[in-house]
Amino acid sequence: MTSYISIAEAMKKGSGKVAVRGWVYRERGSNKIKFVILRDATNIIQCVIERSKFEKQWDEIDKLKIESSLEIEGTIKEDKRAPTGYEISADKINIVQIAEDFPINKDLNEELLGDRRHLWLRSRKMTAILKIRSTVFGAIHEYFRSKGFYEYQSPIFQSVQCEGGSTLFKVDYFGKKGVFLAQTWQLFAEPAIFSLEKIYTVAPSFRAEESKTSRHLTEYWHAEMEVAWATFIDIQDYGEELLKHVVKKVLERNKPELEILERDPKKLEPTVKKKFPRMTYDDALKILKDKYKMKIPWGKDLRTIEEDKLSKLYDTPIIVTGYPKEVKAFYMKETEGNPKVVNGCDFIAPEGYGEIIGGSEREADPEKIKQKLIEMKEDPEQYAFYLDTRKYGSIPHGGFGMGVERIISWICGLTTIKDAIPFPRTMTRFSP
Ligand code: 4AD
Ligand code: MG
Repeated sequence: MTSYISIAEAMKKGSGKVAVRGWVYRERGSNKIKFVILRDATNIIQCVIERSKFEKQWDEIDKLKIESSLEIEGTIKEDKRAPTGYEISADKINIVQIAEDFPINKDLNEELLGDRRHLWLRSRKMTAILKIRSTVFGAIHEYFRSKGFYEYQSPIFQSVQCEGGSTLFKVDYFGKKGVFLAQTWQLFAEPAIFSLEKIYTVAPSFRAEESKTSRHLTEYWHAEMEVAWATFIDIQDYGEELLKHVVKKVLERNKPELEILERDPKKLEPTVKKKFPRMTYDDALKILKDKYKMKIPWGKDLRTIEEDKLSKLYDTPIIVTGYPKEVKAFYMKETEGNPKVVNGCDFIAPEGYGEIIGGSEREADPEKIKQKLIEMKEDPEQYAFYLDTRKYGSIPHGGFGMGVERIISWICGLTTIKDAIPFPRTMTRFSP
């Protein structure tokens, strides 16, 4: 039996006999010689097929089109003119399938590429992004496990909201009302820190985002953590360390992919090396006023435009703390000595990629939480299980959530978050 190796392995070998298999990435030639650029998961390589060696098979070989699948045995050698510096001279070919006309070309608009997403995944661009995505997911697990966190899961069907009613997806749950898709794991994670203390998850979250932006999905992957006994500073430190670890791993493992995406790794290096600037909401307003003459009235949330302006002043993510309590979630702890603001933090990515982490210290006082719920027109009864966490051995604690596609989008330098996930879900796109 032939033992096939990957294109990357064949190039590493560099000379002698090799057997590779994959798909036709490009092809050209005459009725004497054909140049097929073969693609597999690892790379592309030019293969030369001379008619003199394949007289009997030539009719079939002549029909090879883009994305046809084949197995090739031949001799590999260095060739500076070939696209990836090596060339295989074919001795034996097994055509596995001759593809139909591949319905993807460079003239397709975003909508049509979306319709053909299942085929577009094979592009060099998507392949590079998907490899980086895999590194990012791996790095998140590595980081938390190395810090002694347990992996823990919350339910996706939930009977409460956590991040505001306007982005809740309602579910028809056997005709029952008040069932939603998870916006976050948080309210079901907090009860578990009393048994495991340090927990994390990587799971889908759902937001009925009605806005069409380059940074919102309706289904995204959410890396969340919750820690018992943590201070507000601890939460920020964990977030900074996690981001440093993730970016470091991509820089170590995915240089070739960053190159395919034309993403300059130098843009990412400061995140690994430098401490992230930390500022309060008040500091942020002052900077916006001093640097951009933007006057934001105290109490208003920072919008995308303000976050973007701020982020452009730094080459690492920044951490903004001490937001007015009105603009933040009901579970965030009031800052001691300044109850108008909360111990909540947003991490804002460089280069205008927006909020990548949102976290906080959690309010300990069940009466304050209840009051907020009532103000939000929520029924505290529904949250009784959550309020119990403040009744039986309540402790200081906190956590955060990181939008994994936001991270990938920034790391890869994408123009839209939709390319950070294989099959994006947005207000207007739910198939394929
Ligand atoms: O700031 P958010 O809403 O915070 C929470 O959900 C907290 N319960 C997390 C926690 O403390 N455990 O969301 C967290 C992060 C945001 O910073 C952003 O990166 C990402 O989730 N995110 C989205 N990513 C893609 N599409 C969307 N529609 C997103 N909404 C939030
Ligand atoms: Mg947030």
